[in-house]
Amino acid sequence: MADALAQIEDVARLAEAELAGVTDANALEQYRIKFLGSNGLVKDLAKLISEASKEQKRAVGQRMNAVKGQVEAAFTARKESLSADASGDRDYVDVTEPGIVPQIGNRHILMKVVDELTELFGRMGFSIATGPEVEDEFHNFVALNIPESHPARDPLDNFYLQNSSQQGQLLLRTQTSTVQIRVMQTQKPPIRVVIPGRVYRPDTIDATHLPMFHQLEALIVDRDVTMVDLKSTIMQFVHAYFGQNTKVRFRPSFFPFTEPSAEVDVWFEDKQRWIELGGCGMVHPNVFKNCGIDPEEYSGWAFGLGIERIAMRKYGIQDIRRFVENDIRFLRQF
Ligand code: FA5
Repeated sequence: MADALAQIEDVARLAEAELAGVTDANALEQYRIKFLGSNGLVKDLAKLISEASKEQKRAVGQRMNAVKGQVEAAFTARKESLSADASGDRDYVDVTEPGIVPQIGNRHILMKVVDELTELFGRMGFSIATGPEVEDEFHNFVALNIPESHPARDPLDNFYLQNSSQQGQLLLRTQTSTVQIRVMQTQKPPIRVVIPGRVYRPDTIDATHLPMFHQLEALIVDRDVTMVDLKSTIMQFVHAYFGQNTKVRFRPSFFPFTEPSAEVDVWFEDKQRWIELGGCGMVHPNVFKNCGIDPEEYSGWAFGLGIERIAMRKYGIQDIRRFVENDIRFLRQF
Protein backbone atom coordinates (compact mmCIF):
# COMPACT_ATOMS: atom_id res chain seq x y z
CA MET A 1 0.00 0.00 0.00
CA ALA A 2 2.89 2.35 0.83
CA ASP A 3 4.00 1.84 -2.70
CA ALA A 4 0.62 2.72 -4.19
CA LEU A 5 0.35 5.86 -2.08
CA ALA A 6 3.89 6.89 -3.02
CA GLN A 7 3.01 6.51 -6.70
CA ILE A 8 0.00 8.73 -6.21
CA GLU A 9 2.15 11.39 -4.50
CA ASP A 10 4.69 11.20 -7.33
CA VAL A 11 1.98 11.96 -9.89
CA ALA A 12 0.64 14.81 -7.70
CA ARG A 13 4.10 16.40 -7.44
CA LEU A 14 4.82 15.98 -11.15
CA ALA A 15 1.45 17.51 -12.07
CA GLU A 16 2.11 20.50 -9.84
CA ALA A 17 5.63 21.04 -11.16
CA GLU A 18 4.62 20.79 -14.80
CA LEU A 19 1.65 23.10 -14.42
CA ALA A 20 3.98 25.80 -13.11
CA GLY A 21 5.77 25.71 -16.47
CA VAL A 22 2.59 26.05 -18.56
CA THR A 23 2.41 29.58 -20.05
CA ASP A 24 0.18 29.26 -23.12
CA ALA A 25 -2.95 27.52 -24.32
CA ASN A 26 -1.02 25.03 -26.40
CA ALA A 27 1.12 23.84 -23.48
CA LEU A 28 -1.99 23.68 -21.31
CA GLU A 29 -3.66 21.31 -23.77
CA GLN A 30 -0.57 19.07 -23.81
CA TYR A 31 -0.68 19.12 -20.04
CA ARG A 32 -4.37 18.17 -20.02
CA ILE A 33 -3.74 15.19 -22.32
CA LYS A 34 -0.75 14.03 -20.25
CA PHE A 35 -2.47 14.17 -16.87
CA LEU A 36 -6.26 14.31 -17.33
CA GLY A 37 -6.74 12.65 -20.72
CA SER A 38 -8.36 9.20 -20.99
CA ASN A 39 -4.89 7.59 -21.03
CA GLY A 40 -3.40 10.24 -18.76
CA LEU A 41 -1.33 9.73 -15.61
CA VAL A 42 -4.13 10.63 -13.20
CA LYS A 43 -6.61 8.30 -14.89
CA ASP A 44 -3.94 5.66 -14.82
CA LEU A 45 -3.83 5.73 -11.04
CA ALA A 46 -7.23 3.95 -11.01
CA LYS A 47 -5.51 0.68 -11.73
CA LEU A 48 -3.77 0.96 -8.31
CA ILE A 49 -7.17 0.47 -6.69
CA SER A 50 -7.84 -2.76 -8.48
CA GLU A 51 -4.33 -3.93 -7.69
CA ALA A 52 -4.63 -3.06 -4.00
CA SER A 53 -5.71 -5.58 -1.38
CA LYS A 54 -9.24 -5.45 0.00
CA GLU A 55 -8.17 -3.54 3.15
CA GLN A 56 -6.07 -1.04 1.20
CA LYS A 57 -8.64 -0.24 -1.50
CA ARG A 58 -10.39 2.42 0.57
CA ALA A 59 -7.27 4.42 1.52
CA VAL A 60 -5.81 4.25 -2.01
CA GLY A 61 -9.16 5.24 -3.55
CA GLN A 62 -9.57 8.21 -1.23
CA ARG A 63 -6.09 9.56 -1.84
CA MET A 64 -6.41 9.02 -5.57
CA ASN A 65 -9.70 10.95 -5.71
CA ALA A 66 -8.21 13.79 -3.65
CA VAL A 67 -5.23 14.11 -6.01
CA LYS A 68 -7.50 13.92 -9.08
CA GLY A 69 -9.61 16.77 -7.66
CA GLN A 70 -6.51 18.85 -6.93
CA VAL A 71 -5.05 18.40 -10.42
CA GLU A 72 -8.39 19.24 -12.08
CA ALA A 73 -8.87 22.37 -9.94
CA ALA A 74 -5.33 23.59 -10.62
CA PHE A 75 -5.84 22.96 -14.35
CA THR A 76 -9.13 24.95 -14.42
CA ALA A 77 -7.57 27.85 -12.51
CA ARG A 78 -4.64 28.05 -14.93
CA LYS A 79 -7.00 27.85 -17.90
CA GLU A 80 -9.00 30.82 -16.58
CA SER A 81 -5.94 32.90 -15.81
CA LEU A 82 -4.53 32.28 -19.30
CA SER A 83 -7.78 33.38 -21.03
CA ALA A 84 -8.01 36.47 -18.80
CA ASP A 85 -4.45 37.39 -19.82
CA ALA A 86 -5.42 36.96 -23.45
CA SER A 87 -8.35 39.39 -23.26
CA GLY A 88 -6.76 41.83 -20.83
CA ASP A 89 -3.75 44.11 -21.25
CA ARG A 90 -2.65 43.65 -24.82
CA ASP A 91 -0.12 45.64 -26.67
CA TYR A 92 -1.97 45.19 -29.97
CA VAL A 93 -5.39 45.93 -31.43
CA ASP A 94 -7.35 43.15 -33.07
CA VAL A 95 -8.82 44.99 -36.05
CA THR A 96 -10.99 42.01 -36.92
CA GLU A 97 -12.95 42.22 -33.64
CA PRO A 98 -16.51 43.52 -34.08
CA GLY A 99 -16.82 47.17 -33.04
CA ILE A 100 -18.98 48.56 -30.23
CA VAL A 101 -22.10 49.85 -31.98
CA PRO A 102 -22.98 53.29 -30.58
CA GLN A 103 -26.62 53.92 -29.67
CA ILE A 104 -27.63 56.74 -31.99
CA GLY A 105 -31.16 57.84 -32.81
CA ASN A 106 -32.57 58.67 -36.21
CA ARG A 107 -33.63 61.85 -37.93
CA HIS A 108 -37.06 63.04 -36.79
CA ILE A 109 -39.83 62.10 -39.21
CA LEU A 110 -40.76 65.77 -39.72
CA MET A 111 -37.20 66.63 -40.73
CA LYS A 112 -37.24 63.69 -43.14
CA VAL A 113 -40.45 65.03 -44.66
CA VAL A 114 -38.88 68.50 -44.97
CA ASP A 115 -35.96 66.88 -46.84
CA GLU A 116 -38.35 64.98 -49.12
CA LEU A 117 -40.37 68.12 -49.89
CA THR A 118 -37.40 70.41 -50.54
CA GLU A 119 -35.87 67.71 -52.72
CA LEU A 120 -39.09 67.33 -54.70
CA PHE A 121 -39.49 71.09 -55.18
CA GLY A 122 -35.77 71.31 -55.91
CA ARG A 123 -36.41 69.09 -58.92
CA MET A 124 -39.08 71.59 -60.03
CA GLY A 125 -36.48 74.38 -59.94
CA PHE A 126 -37.17 75.87 -56.49
CA SER A 127 -34.29 76.88 -54.22
CA ILE A 128 -34.57 77.04 -50.41
CA ALA A 129 -34.92 80.25 -48.39
CA THR A 130 -35.13 80.69 -44.62
CA GLY A 131 -35.88 83.50 -42.18
CA PRO A 132 -35.99 84.23 -38.42
CA GLU A 133 -38.56 82.69 -36.09
CA VAL A 134 -38.66 85.85 -33.97
CA GLU A 135 -40.20 88.47 -36.23
CA ASP A 136 -41.24 92.11 -36.19
CA GLU A 137 -44.75 93.28 -36.97
CA PHE A 138 -43.66 94.64 -40.33
CA HIS A 139 -42.74 91.21 -41.74
CA ASN A 140 -45.46 89.24 -39.94
CA PHE A 141 -48.32 91.68 -40.65
CA VAL A 142 -47.74 95.11 -42.24
CA ALA A 143 -45.87 94.05 -45.38
CA LEU A 144 -48.31 91.16 -45.81
CA ASN A 145 -51.16 93.66 -46.11
CA ILE A 146 -52.62 92.78 -42.70
CA PRO A 147 -53.91 96.08 -41.26
CA GLU A 148 -53.73 97.16 -37.60
CA SER A 149 -57.42 96.40 -37.13
CA HIS A 150 -57.20 92.83 -38.48
CA PRO A 151 -58.17 90.10 -35.97
CA ALA A 152 -54.99 88.16 -36.90
CA ARG A 153 -53.03 90.76 -34.86
CA ASP A 154 -54.99 90.10 -31.67
CA PRO A 155 -52.55 89.50 -28.75
CA LEU A 156 -54.59 86.40 -27.93
CA ASP A 157 -53.76 84.93 -31.35
CA ASN A 158 -50.00 85.53 -31.16
CA PHE A 159 -46.98 84.89 -28.95
CA TYR A 160 -45.72 88.46 -28.50
CA LEU A 161 -42.35 88.92 -26.79
CA GLN A 162 -42.24 91.06 -23.65
CA ASN A 163 -38.93 92.83 -24.37
CA SER A 164 -39.78 94.30 -27.74
CA SER A 165 -37.66 97.10 -29.17
CA GLN A 166 -38.62 100.65 -30.30
CA GLN A 167 -39.12 99.31 -33.84
CA GLY A 168 -42.34 97.84 -32.53
CA GLN A 169 -43.47 94.60 -31.02
CA LEU A 170 -41.61 91.35 -31.66
CA LEU A 171 -43.40 88.04 -31.87
CA LEU A 172 -42.87 84.41 -32.78
CA ARG A 173 -43.85 84.25 -36.45
CA THR A 174 -47.28 82.81 -37.08
CA GLN A 175 -46.61 81.84 -40.68
CA THR A 176 -43.67 81.30 -43.03
CA SER A 177 -45.19 83.99 -45.32
CA THR A 178 -42.91 86.43 -43.43
CA VAL A 179 -40.01 85.01 -45.44
CA GLN A 180 -41.78 85.90 -48.72
CA ILE A 181 -41.20 89.52 -47.71
CA ARG A 182 -37.56 88.96 -46.76
CA VAL A 183 -36.88 87.21 -50.09
CA MET A 184 -38.62 89.91 -52.17
CA GLN A 185 -36.75 92.65 -50.28
CA THR A 186 -33.40 91.11 -51.16
CA GLN A 187 -33.85 89.31 -54.49
CA LYS A 188 -34.91 90.54 -57.90
CA PRO A 189 -37.44 88.54 -59.95
CA PRO A 190 -37.55 85.92 -61.30
CA ILE A 191 -37.97 84.34 -57.86
CA ARG A 192 -38.71 80.67 -57.23
CA VAL A 193 -38.22 79.59 -53.61
CA VAL A 194 -39.58 77.16 -51.02
CA ILE A 195 -39.36 78.10 -47.36
CA PRO A 196 -39.59 75.33 -44.74
CA GLY A 197 -39.81 76.49 -41.12
CA ARG A 198 -41.30 76.47 -37.66
CA VAL A 199 -44.25 78.71 -36.79
CA TYR A 200 -46.13 79.43 -33.54
CA ARG A 201 -49.79 80.06 -32.67
CA PRO A 202 -51.60 79.83 -29.34
CA ASP A 203 -54.00 77.21 -30.75
CA THR A 204 -55.63 74.63 -28.50
CA ILE A 205 -53.93 71.26 -28.89
CA ASP A 206 -55.97 68.50 -30.51
CA ALA A 207 -55.47 65.71 -33.06
CA THR A 208 -54.74 68.19 -35.89
CA HIS A 209 -53.41 71.29 -34.04
CA LEU A 210 -50.22 72.13 -32.15
CA PRO A 211 -49.07 75.53 -30.82
CA MET A 212 -45.75 75.01 -32.63
CA PHE A 213 -45.82 73.45 -36.05
CA HIS A 214 -44.08 73.61 -39.44
CA GLN A 215 -45.06 75.12 -42.75
CA LEU A 216 -43.71 74.84 -46.25
CA GLU A 217 -44.09 78.14 -48.07
CA ALA A 218 -43.53 78.60 -51.80
CA LEU A 219 -43.19 81.83 -53.75
CA ILE A 220 -42.90 82.48 -57.46
CA VAL A 221 -42.49 85.95 -58.93
CA ASP A 222 -42.01 86.44 -62.65
CA ARG A 223 -43.66 87.99 -65.69
CA ASP A 224 -47.00 86.51 -66.83
CA VAL A 225 -47.42 84.12 -63.91
CA THR A 226 -51.06 83.00 -63.56
CA MET A 227 -53.35 81.00 -61.30
CA VAL A 228 -52.95 78.09 -63.74
CA ASP A 229 -49.26 77.83 -62.76
CA LEU A 230 -50.23 77.82 -59.08
CA LYS A 231 -52.89 75.12 -59.42
CA SER A 232 -50.83 72.91 -61.71
CA THR A 233 -47.76 73.11 -59.45
CA ILE A 234 -49.80 72.11 -56.39
CA MET A 235 -51.52 69.28 -58.31
CA GLN A 236 -48.14 68.04 -59.55
CA PHE A 237 -46.74 68.12 -56.05
CA VAL A 238 -49.71 66.28 -54.51
CA HIS A 239 -49.65 63.59 -57.18
CA ALA A 240 -45.87 63.15 -57.07
CA TYR A 241 -45.72 62.98 -53.29
CA PHE A 242 -48.95 61.18 -52.31
CA GLY A 243 -49.63 59.19 -55.49
CA GLN A 244 -51.35 59.78 -58.81
CA ASN A 245 -54.81 58.89 -57.49
CA THR A 246 -54.78 61.29 -54.54
CA LYS A 247 -57.83 63.54 -54.51
CA VAL A 248 -57.13 67.24 -54.13
CA ARG A 249 -59.55 70.18 -54.18
CA PHE A 250 -59.29 73.99 -54.14
CA ARG A 251 -61.77 76.03 -52.07
CA PRO A 252 -62.15 79.80 -52.50
CA SER A 253 -60.80 81.57 -49.42
CA PHE A 254 -59.36 84.83 -48.15
CA PHE A 255 -55.85 85.92 -47.17
CA PRO A 256 -54.93 89.63 -47.02
CA PHE A 257 -51.67 88.95 -48.90
CA THR A 258 -53.15 87.05 -51.88
CA GLU A 259 -55.93 87.83 -54.34
CA PRO A 260 -57.61 85.59 -55.36
CA SER A 261 -57.00 83.10 -52.53
CA ALA A 262 -57.81 79.43 -52.02
CA GLU A 263 -57.44 76.60 -49.53
CA VAL A 264 -56.00 73.27 -50.65
CA ASP A 265 -57.63 70.15 -49.24
CA VAL A 266 -56.53 66.53 -49.62
CA TRP A 267 -58.79 63.50 -49.12
CA PHE A 268 -57.77 61.38 -46.13
CA GLU A 269 -58.87 57.84 -46.98
CA ASP A 270 -58.49 56.50 -43.43
CA LYS A 271 -60.52 59.36 -41.94
CA GLN A 272 -62.94 59.49 -44.90
CA ARG A 273 -62.80 63.28 -44.98
CA TRP A 274 -61.06 66.26 -46.56
CA ILE A 275 -58.23 67.78 -44.53
CA GLU A 276 -56.87 71.24 -45.25
CA LEU A 277 -53.17 71.21 -46.16
CA GLY A 278 -52.81 74.97 -46.51
CA GLY A 279 -53.61 78.23 -48.21
CA CYS A 280 -52.52 79.72 -51.52
CA GLY A 281 -53.19 82.52 -53.98
CA MET A 282 -51.84 85.16 -56.33
CA VAL A 283 -49.54 87.64 -54.60
CA HIS A 284 -51.51 90.80 -53.72
CA PRO A 285 -50.33 93.97 -55.55
CA ASN A 286 -49.92 95.76 -52.19
CA VAL A 287 -47.42 93.08 -51.07
CA PHE A 288 -45.38 93.67 -54.24
CA LYS A 289 -45.45 97.43 -53.60
CA ASN A 290 -44.34 96.92 -49.96
CA CYS A 291 -41.30 95.07 -51.27
CA GLY A 292 -40.45 97.48 -54.09
CA ILE A 293 -41.64 95.23 -56.93
CA ASP A 294 -43.83 96.74 -59.67
CA PRO A 295 -47.15 94.81 -59.80
CA GLU A 296 -47.76 96.10 -63.33
CA GLU A 297 -44.63 94.33 -64.52
CA TYR A 298 -44.62 91.22 -62.35
CA SER A 299 -47.13 88.72 -61.03
CA GLY A 300 -46.66 85.79 -58.71
CA TRP A 301 -48.20 83.14 -56.54
CA ALA A 302 -47.55 81.69 -53.11
CA PHE A 303 -48.72 78.86 -50.92
CA GLY A 304 -48.20 77.82 -47.30
CA LEU A 305 -48.84 74.18 -46.36
CA GLY A 306 -48.80 72.51 -42.93
CA ILE A 307 -45.89 70.05 -42.87
CA GLU A 308 -47.35 67.97 -40.00
CA ARG A 309 -50.56 67.52 -42.02
CA ILE A 310 -48.49 66.45 -45.06
CA ALA A 311 -46.51 63.96 -42.93
CA MET A 312 -49.74 62.59 -41.43
CA ARG A 313 -51.28 62.04 -44.85
CA LYS A 314 -48.11 60.49 -46.25
CA TYR A 315 -47.34 58.11 -43.35
CA GLY A 316 -50.85 57.37 -42.06
CA ILE A 317 -50.29 59.11 -38.70
CA GLN A 318 -53.64 59.61 -36.98
CA ASP A 319 -52.76 62.20 -34.34
CA ILE A 320 -50.48 65.25 -34.70
CA ARG A 321 -49.43 64.96 -31.02
CA ARG A 322 -47.33 61.88 -31.84
CA PHE A 323 -44.70 64.19 -33.42
CA VAL A 324 -43.89 65.93 -30.14
CA GLU A 325 -44.42 63.25 -27.50
CA ASN A 326 -40.88 61.89 -27.88
CA ASP A 327 -42.07 58.30 -27.73
CA ILE A 328 -39.05 56.44 -29.04
CA ARG A 329 -41.24 53.55 -30.28
CA PHE A 330 -43.10 55.96 -32.57
CA LEU A 331 -39.97 57.82 -33.72
CA ARG A 332 -37.99 54.65 -34.50
CA GLN A 333 -40.55 53.52 -37.08
CA PHE A 334 -39.41 56.06 -39.63
C1 FA5 B 1 -51.42 80.49 -43.56
O1 FA5 B 1 -50.67 80.35 -42.60
C2 FA5 B 1 -51.02 81.25 -44.78
N1 FA5 B 1 -49.77 81.91 -44.51
C3 FA5 B 1 -50.91 80.31 -45.97
C4 FA5 B 1 -50.69 81.04 -47.25
C5 FA5 B 1 -49.43 81.21 -47.74
C6 FA5 B 1 -51.79 81.53 -47.96
C7 FA5 B 1 -49.21 81.89 -48.94
C8 FA5 B 1 -51.58 82.20 -49.15
C9 FA5 B 1 -50.31 82.37 -49.65
P1 FA5 B 1 -53.32 79.00 -42.55
O2 FA5 B 1 -53.49 79.79 -41.32
O3 FA5 B 1 -54.54 78.43 -43.17
O4 FA5 B 1 -52.61 79.85 -43.69
O5 FA5 B 1 -52.30 77.83 -42.23
C10 FA5 B 1 -51.77 77.04 -43.26
C11 FA5 B 1 -51.72 75.57 -42.84
O6 FA5 B 1 -50.94 75.41 -41.66
C12 FA5 B 1 -53.06 75.00 -42.42
O7 FA5 B 1 -53.81 74.63 -43.54
C13 FA5 B 1 -52.64 73.77 -41.67
O8 FA5 B 1 -52.20 72.73 -42.52
C14 FA5 B 1 -51.43 74.30 -40.94
N2 FA5 B 1 -51.81 74.70 -39.59
C15 FA5 B 1 -52.44 75.81 -39.19
N3 FA5 B 1 -52.56 75.86 -37.86
C16 FA5 B 1 -52.02 74.71 -37.38
C17 FA5 B 1 -51.82 74.16 -36.08
N4 FA5 B 1 -52.19 74.79 -34.99
N5 FA5 B 1 -51.21 72.96 -35.99
C18 FA5 B 1 -50.79 72.32 -37.09
N6 FA5 B 1 -50.92 72.78 -38.34
C19 FA5 B 1 -51.54 73.96 -38.49
